[in-house]
Amino acid sequence: MYGCLEDHKPVGPYHQRRVCRNFCISGNCAVKEWCGFSRTLMHGAPYIWVSGCPEQHTPIRPQTLKSRHLIAQRTGHAHSRSMNNAMRPTIIAFASPKGGVGKSTSCACLAGALAARGYPVLVLDLDQNRTLEQWFKRFPDLAGILTVEGLGEGEFMDRLKHHCDTRSGFILVDVAGVYQKTTIQAATVADLTITPSKLSAPDIIEAAKLHRELTHLSAMIGKPILHRVLLNEVNPLWPTYQRAALEDVKRSGVEPFGMVVHQRAPYAEVFLTGQPPHFANRTREPVRKAVEQLDDLTDRILTLLGLNEQKAAA
Ligand SMILES: Nc1ncnc2c1ncn2[C@@H]1O[C@H](COP(=O)(O)OP(=O)(O)OP(=O)(O)O)[C@@H](O)[C@H]1O
Ligand SMILES: [Mg+2]
Repeated sequence: MYGCLEDHKPVGPYHQRRVCRNFCISGNCAVKEWCGFSRTLMHGAPYIWVSGCPEQHTPIRPQTLKSRHLIAQRTGHAHSRSMNNAMRPTIIAFASPKGGVGKSTSCACLAGALAARGYPVLVLDLDQNRTLEQWFKRFPDLAGILTVEGLGEGEFMDRLKHHCDTRSGFILVDVAGVYQKTTIQAATVADLTITPSKLSAPDIIEAAKLHRELTHLSAMIGKPILHRVLLNEVNPLWPTYQRAALEDVKRSGVEPFGMVVHQRAPYAEVFLTGQPPHFANRTREPVRKAVEQLDDLTDRILTLLGLNEQKAAA
């Protein structure tokens, strides 16, 4: 462990501690290690700050995903890889304690939308039903768009580490529809965790429960967990009961995306045809609308992650 320029004393586990990191944008500078020091946790405060490096390389503050990509571009290290490396892939987890809310569907659709922009996309299927892995095997054409790997609970972290070391682009993780160990693991390592939820009380209650758990977990580990609720299968006619449910969402404390995903045939057809909307017949009006909605969602996600200036990483 390298010393901290602000002379904080190194500590052991950084559970319940904030973390200071010396980080240098020079590809050759060794000062890239975490330097933990004791400090009381404060909700909402940035948990990483940057001290520059003893070799006087330019510091970047704060270290965001976007800056990580800029670092990689500037240092020409776009293809050097490790868990701490600037160019590790962006991880998005789809997690919900409730089943049937549209995790696998939205994961497959977003995978298609990102692939259509030229990003390499790997989907890790952690659900024991293996919805996405089976889908990938049933439709061999999908291999030209993305990759899906089914994983057991015990192998998730090791495989993820391996993929972070060897891949760029996006890793989407489809977690089983229960609150379990992999839910916590995925949310902890993900850059963004998405919980799809229908506009119905049981879905909203479960999404809010997960949101509270993740907020608590975030405070425990001293690391922000970015969590957003994706309102899914919304009737485009906005019946009264859905309007009322939207009020429940606002009161529940969850953070929804500023858009919703409608209930549309092209979403439901993904598992029947093997074609995410971006790769389906776009002359069909419902497909065109689904693509429009997914592009809006993708733009919002990229903005949230500070990646909106990135060109397609083909
Ligand atoms: N926006 C949508 N429009 C139409 N149908 C949808 C939409 N989202 C999901 N569905 C349908 O809802 C059903 C459940 O979706 P999905 O399997 O993606 O949920 P899940 O959360 O992954 O479920 P599980 O917890 O069982 O894994 C599927 O039949 C799917 O086709
Ligand atoms: Mg599923």
